[in-house]
Amino acid sequence: MSAADLHEPESAGGLPIALTRVEKSFGRLSVLGNLNLEIPAGQFLAVVGRSGGGKSTLMRLVAGLDTASSGGVSIGGRKVERLHPAVRLLFQEARLVPWQRVGENVGIARGVDWQARARRVLADVGLEGRENDWPTVLSGGQRQRVALARALVSAPQILLLDEPFGALDALTRIEMHRLLEQIWSDRGFTTVLITHDVAEAVALADRVIVLKEGGIALDIDIDLERPRQELADPRAVDLQRQILEAV
Ligand SMILES: Nc1ncnc2c1ncn2[C@@H]1O[C@H](COP(=O)(O)OP(=O)(O)OP(=O)(O)O)[C@@H](O)[C@H]1O
Ligand SMILES: [Mg+2]
Repeated sequence: MSAADLHEPESAGGLPIALTRVEKSFGRLSVLGNLNLEIPAGQFLAVVGRSGGGKSTLMRLVAGLDTASSGGVSIGGRKVERLHPAVRLLFQEARLVPWQRVGENVGIARGVDWQARARRVLADVGLEGRENDWPTVLSGGQRQRVALARALVSAPQILLLDEPFGALDALTRIEMHRLLEQIWSDRGFTTVLITHDVAEAVALADRVIVLKEGGIALDIDIDLERPRQELADPRAVDLQRQILEAV
């Protein structure tokens, strides 16, 4: 399937994100300290870093699910104070509603023509005709496709992904990489992907930052042509090495 085959080219585009002197502490634990980060509209940013380094905290701040101890986050030039309607999130677990069919999970927000829209976006993620299945009969990779469809059905301008492929086997993960790259290329939303997997970051992102000790230890552009070939591109291997050294 090529990008031109996607059913919903709803190119809502992306919105820029800016973090200005963001600090975040939980009690005496300082997690993020004086963080400045500008993410241009439509960029695919990957955030890597050690466990407990504050990646999910950063994502929660961007999503408006938590507030900074000081400094601020803005989306499209406006301060984020609650969950922004143009933002959708994807987590390691698909978090589907088990007593609703696949199509109902995707169309969870309902709205005009939701069944037809759910069907189309399911086809976009490779699950054509599966709208009447129960979530329990799906594989882990298929469930993540449903979660992706649920995020895409509202044509988000920002997609935040927190380790979305961490629980998948290596081949399914590569399939999901290609799918996400294709949909992102087609729709142009701003993407922030949090991952432990440096190869995944280099395979997908325009730019990778390493979060370490509350700050940005590395900020590197990934200037490789798309669609990316994941395996054995010596330039990708060199970029991975540079990132790993900074983690
Ligand atoms: N609501 C909270 N209350 C107290 N401490 C918290 C809270 N949320 C996160 N923390 C702490 O902040 C630190 C950063 O957590 P965070 O979840 O952002 O890390 P992470 O980089 O996403 O880690 P992982 O890679 O394991 O998912 C951790 O020490 C965590 O225990
Ligand atoms: Mg996390």
